Order: sequence, then C-alpha cells, then structure tokens
Amino acid sequence: MWLEGPARPLLRTAGFRLALRSLALSLGGAALVFVIIHHAAESIWREQIDATVGGALTDILSDIQRNQQGLAQNVRDTMAEGGGLFYADIGPDGTLQAGNFSAPPAVLARWTGARTFRRREGLMLPPRVKAVRGIAHRFTDGDTLLIAENADPLLATNALIARSFVAVFGTILALGLLSGYLAARTESRRVDAIATTLREIMNGDLSRRVPVGPAGDEFDRLAAGLNAMLQRLQELMENLRQVTADIAHDLRSPLARLREHLELSRRRFTGPGLPQMFDEALAQIDQALDIFAAMLRIAEVEAGTRRSHFAPVSLSDLLEALAETYEPAFATAGIALTADIQAGLTLRGDKDLLQQMIANLLDNVMLHAAGASFATIRATRTGQRISLEIADDGPGIPPEQSTRVFQRFVRLDAARRHPGYGLGLSLAAAIAALHGGGIALRENRPGLTAVIFIDVSLES
Ligand SMILES: Nc1ncnc2c1ncn2[C@@H]1O[C@H](COP(=O)(O)OP(=O)(O)OP(=O)(O)O)[C@@H](O)[C@H]1O
Ligand SMILES: [Mg+2]
Repeated sequence: MWLEGPARPLLRTAGFRLALRSLALSLGGAALVFVIIHHAAESIWREQIDATVGGALTDILSDIQRNQQGLAQNVRDTMAEGGGLFYADIGPDGTLQAGNFSAPPAVLARWTGARTFRRREGLMLPPRVKAVRGIAHRFTDGDTLLIAENADPLLATNALIARSFVAVFGTILALGLLSGYLAARTESRRVDAIATTLREIMNGDLSRRVPVGPAGDEFDRLAAGLNAMLQRLQELMENLRQVTADIAHDLRSPLARLREHLELSRRRFTGPGLPQMFDEALAQIDQALDIFAAMLRIAEVEAGTRRSHFAPVSLSDLLEALAETYEPAFATAGIALTADIQAGLTLRGDKDLLQQMIANLLDNVMLHAAGASFATIRATRTGQRISLEIADDGPGIPPEQSTRVFQRFVRLDAARRHPGYGLGLSLAAAIAALHGGGIALRENRPGLTAVIFIDVSLES
C-alpha cells in the first residue's frame, strides 16, 4: 500500500537510456564522417603520387628506347637531374644496380602496381623518410625498376585525421554522458516529486497536488493530468462522504424521536408481553443510532477537520495506560496481554482518536480471537517511522480477506455471533490515515497482527 520502492539508480532511468541511444547515433555519425574524410584525403594523396611516378616511368622508358644506354645508366642520369624521386634498378639476383633506395626480395615480390611500403618492412631509405609510395616495372631481362615518392605527408595526414577523430569522439562521448546524467537527474527528481505527492495522497491527504513546472513539457502535462484527476477524485470522495454523513445525520433525528416515542409509550401502555416488545424495539433503535454515530465519526475523521486540533501526544504513555486498563478484561478472557513499548514515542495527533484506534484493535482481539492465549502490544520507532503492532495467537483471518475487512460493514462469518457492526477497522484505518499513516493486517502464524505505521516526518 505504501508507494516507496528502492531508489532507482540514475543509469537505469529512461532519460539516461535515451541519451545513450542518441550518443551512440552521434558517435556512429562522427565515425562515418571521419571514414569519408580519411578515404578522400588518402585518395587525393595517392592519385597525386601515382601520377608523378607514372610520369617518371614513362620518361625513363622513352629515354631507354631513345639512347639505348641501358636501365642502370638511365637511372643514374635521371637521378643526376634531381627531382626528389626515389629510383632503384634491382638485378635478377636482388642486388642494387643503380639508384638511391632499395627494397628487400620480400617487398619486391609483393610490389605489383602502385603500392605504399614503410621503412620498417626492410626498405633502405634516407633516415628522414619513413615510407614511400610508387610503382615496380619488371623488364624481360629480369631487372626490376622501382620509382617511388616520399609518402610521409600521406602518413602525416592519416595520423592527423586519426588524432582529430579521437579528440572529437572523446568530446562527443564526454558531452553525451554528461547530458545523459543531467537528463537522468532531472527526470529522477521530477518523478520523485510526483511519487512523494502520490504517497502523501495515499496516506490520506487528498488535497495534495503534483507540482507543475512552467516549461509545459511532458512531465508538466502528466502532472496537470494527474492533478485534474485528483481534483475530480477529491470532489467525488467529498461528495460521497457528504452524502453518507447527510444520510446518517438526517436519519438520526427521526430515529431519536422514534426512540423517545417508544420510551414514552412503554411507560404509558402496560399489558402482557408489551414491556419486552418495547425493550427489543428500543435495543434495535439503539443499535441503529450506534451505527449512525460510528458512520458520522468515520466521516468526520476522513474529512480531516480534526487535524486542526492536533497536539503533541505521548504514544508510549497512551499505550501503557491502555495496556493496563485492558489487562484485567483480557485476563478474564484467558488471554495474557503483554506490552513491549519503546519509551518516549511522541507524535502530533488527536489523543482521543488514537486511543479509539487502539481500543478498536484490542476489542477485536477480545471479541474475535477466540481461543487466543497471548496478545502483545509492541511499539517502536525506526527513523521517521513509528510502528505499532497488536498481535494475538487466535484463529486470525484468511490472508485474502485482510484488505476486505477494512471496508465498512464487512464482518467475517466467525464474527457474526458477537456484537459489532464491521466499522471498527474502517474507523481505525481512517484515524491512521489522518495521522499520516496506514494500517494493515498480517498473519501471525497462528493469529493476527494489526500493523500501524505513522510517518512522523509528514507531521505538520
Ligand atoms: N484479531 C482478530 N482475529 C480474527 N478476526 C478479526 C480480528 N480483528 C478483526 N477480525 C475480523 O475482521 C472483521 C472486521 O472487524 P471490525 O473491527 O471492522 O468490525 P467488528 O469488530 O466486527 O465490529 P465493530 O468493530 O464495528 O464493533 C471482524 O468482524 C472479524 O471478522
Ligand atoms: Mg471491531
């Protein structure tokens, strides 16, 4: 019945999960953009290098054809002209015939078409050059001509793109997580505010409303909807209470007059059997008047007007006194009543009503716990909550009836041979709610335990 539930971790809120989803999308988008940039930049570099080395190869091939001086001589001549390219004439045995760099046989075997190779793969290059890109041309006599260009700018561009990617990725990740955390915290706070209000409403204060913020967002719309529903509910409840109270009130006067009339008639008329008839009629009217009195009391308590009379009450003293008062009657009924009451329990409340609530529960034990031999009153405070238990080891009630017996006029079959109207628990529940608390019946195996919680942090 109490809307509590453990605090949910922020990471499990819908807001955080939504933020994670959009974060994943942003990261995916960023990754795609970087793949495209990387691909485009690399293509531009490659095409540029490939065109240069392709041109150099055409030049050398046409020189060879023209001057017939052989590959090695032409390579030396071309290098002498400068131009910044790397050349290598490698003989069939793998030795360098002419050139300003060289590649080991393993690289040579893989070098087909335009390729990029790094120095660490065994290339002999000037110290400042880390990688080259170029082409291999194989001659029929077994020589291989390599023409390549420094590919360091290509690697540097790739490294720059990778670093930018890491920076952008990290920033999106950090900002995404932060915004997810903030969204989750805001959402949690707003849901907590709604849950707190609903708890107070369930504790009996139907006048509470869920806070509505100025933003007009989905929470505000939900809160406004809840408030409209609560308003309607409160009106209906008040209506119902009013009607019940009016009926009880309006019927009480004619009944009281009828009672007076019967009383007078009993004195005036005598005859065989008449006094007994009058007595029975009077007893029935008294019962009806008692029921109306009890219903009006419940209506009064539920209306909450008694809250204005709240004053500090020593619950411990009240319970001790009640235990002492009831003990002889319990002993006569063969039930040993014990009390285990924490000292110094106080709360703001209506002393008479609290006494009535406990008396109703003790009366129930005496009346309904047939065959019980023990009963206990226990009261403790944990944190902001006072818990009060009245337990017996009688027959108890079936667990599925434990909520129904709080409805007005509900009495279980076993109780029918005892006097009562089925209103005692309704009144007790109304009194507990008036004090910001609740009441429940639990199995005591054997017997029944009535548990009352009063949240003293809600005291006004
Ligand atoms: N300690 C108990 N052991 C077994 N049954 C119980 C106990 N307390 C309550 N009940 C059951 O719950 C029903 C409702 O209790 P409630 O106090 O509302 O009404 P009542 O005692 O029958 O009448 P009233 O209190 O109006 O004089 C009882 O009729 C009884 O069947
Ligand atoms: Mg009762």
